[in-house]
Amino acid sequence: MAIFRIVPSNIKDICLIISSFSIFYLLSHPLTSPIPSTTSLITVVQPPPTTTTVRHLLFSIASSSKSYTNRKPYLRLWYKPNVTNALVFLDRPVTASADDSDLPPVIISADTSRFPYTFPKGLRSAIRVARIVKEAVESVTESVTGSNGVDEIRWYVFGDDDTVFFTENLARVLNKYDCDKWWYIGSRSESYDQNMQHSFNMAFGGGGFAVSRSLARVLARVLDSCLMRYPHVYGSDSRVYSCLAELGVELTTEPGFHQVDVRGDLFGILAAHPLSPLLSLHHFDIIDPIFPGLTKPESVKHLFKAVNHDPPRILQQAVCYDSSKSITVSVSWGYVVQVFEGNQLLPNLIRVQKTFTSWRRRETFFSKLHMFDMRDYSKDPCKSPDLFFFEGIAPEEKMCHTFYNRKKSMNCSRSDGIRNLIDIKVFSRKIDADTQQMSSPRRECCEILQPYNETMVIALRRCETDELIAMDP
Ligand SMILES: *[C@@H]1O[C@H](CO)[C@@H](O)[C@H](O)[C@H]1NC(C)=O
Ligand SMILES: *[C@@H]1O[C@H](CO)[C@@H](O)[C@H](O)[C@H]1NC(C)=O
Ligand SMILES: *[C@@H]1O[C@H](CO)[C@@H](O)[C@H](O)[C@H]1NC(C)=O
Repeated sequence: MAIFRIVPSNIKDICLIISSFSIFYLLSHPLTSPIPSTTSLITVVQPPPTTTTVRHLLFSIASSSKSYTNRKPYLRLWYKPNVTNALVFLDRPVTASADDSDLPPVIISADTSRFPYTFPKGLRSAIRVARIVKEAVESVTESVTGSNGVDEIRWYVFGDDDTVFFTENLARVLNKYDCDKWWYIGSRSESYDQNMQHSFNMAFGGGGFAVSRSLARVLARVLDSCLMRYPHVYGSDSRVYSCLAELGVELTTEPGFHQVDVRGDLFGILAAHPLSPLLSLHHFDIIDPIFPGLTKPESVKHLFKAVNHDPPRILQQAVCYDSSKSITVSVSWGYVVQVFEGNQLLPNLIRVQKTFTSWRRRETFFSKLHMFDMRDYSKDPCKSPDLFFFEGIAPEEKMCHTFYNRKKSMNCSRSDGIRNLIDIKVFSRKIDADTQQMSSPRRECCEILQPYNETMVIALRRCETDELIAMDP
């Protein structure tokens, strides 16, 4: 048994045998079985983490001394002091206003002049913004463990100062993923053209994206070396994407992030949101106000009246039919109710109406293409549905009524069922965090309560197992 005689020349062999045994042991034992504490090769298996909530997220916002003042109203919509963890990154200090106490702490980004930038007519600030990933992780790992400390932050979320986040929804969606595995989660652009130019596999930065803590720590360590290799790409998001690609990580898309690379009226996109919860909206300064008669900031604030009561329900679309009057109603919760004449089939109603124009002003074949099903939108109001926009909410603990008022429209001839309608009231129950809706979502059903004349009352509810969303024959 020569191999067990410990002489210096045999130590190498013994190590080899021990490590072979450990490998065999690891392969033959599932990771759930207890692992001897002497095995330093393996990190300790953590107990299953508790539900991910907003306090486990750190939002890092890319701003600049130039834009910050004008973007504060957007930040105030979703940032709650002592609830949301967020940092604002600026290129240089700004004079703080007296009422800044309700805004996140500001960090001045480090100098980036040593990094090359060669994209023609691009902005060098892309390097600084990409490095926010590194600076955010360092700000957490350097701070003491506590409410903002290393144990608490599971996800690093990045966005621009004109990105509006729906924080509760983001926490619920990220709860589906294990923060100790590597995840890069976001969305591509709505514009085919933009994806073609930058990448179909990149999370667009304005829509925001999330990186799991385990990946973020590694990315922070290697980012500077990546930045030296990508002077020729345009944005900060391309730089982060390139570095993640080098780490071998791919984008996982979540359709609730919205880069909003469109102009004009966002109506079609908002009224036909996917079943996934709304996670972000961007470019509010560029698009039209989302509610008629309000300014841009007022209109987003108005949407939050509904968001604050039942976040996962915002924009969720349900369709109901009144076969006796031949009417189809589409409810996009907290935003708009559309009342159509006749039987409109569901697959048509969940297509996006092309109410907006393309991001690139000079139209090309590709700039007119978008990444979802679309249908044309009639510019003739008498051929369009009657619109009832969100007016207010009467919240109760577990349920609520939302109210929608008719948008003043042209004098079109309408059938009896529609003509007298002034307002619509929608009854709904709050969506629980632990319901099936998060893991395997199904569109809700709705019912129009009879009779109606000036006010229509609609109840949203779970569909029966075999229930179809269609007009009764
Ligand atoms: C946040 O917490 C601090 C310290 O606990 C407290 O002084 C401050 O009033 C709180 N702010 C808000 C808006 O609750
Ligand atoms: C709407 O049209 C009807 C019939 O065409 C007309 O009698 C009525 O005065 C119009 N109302 C308005 C407000 O224009
Ligand atoms: C419906 O409302 C109109 C006015 O908007 C009114 O003239 C009519 O009498 C009402 N019909 C019923 C059945 O209440």
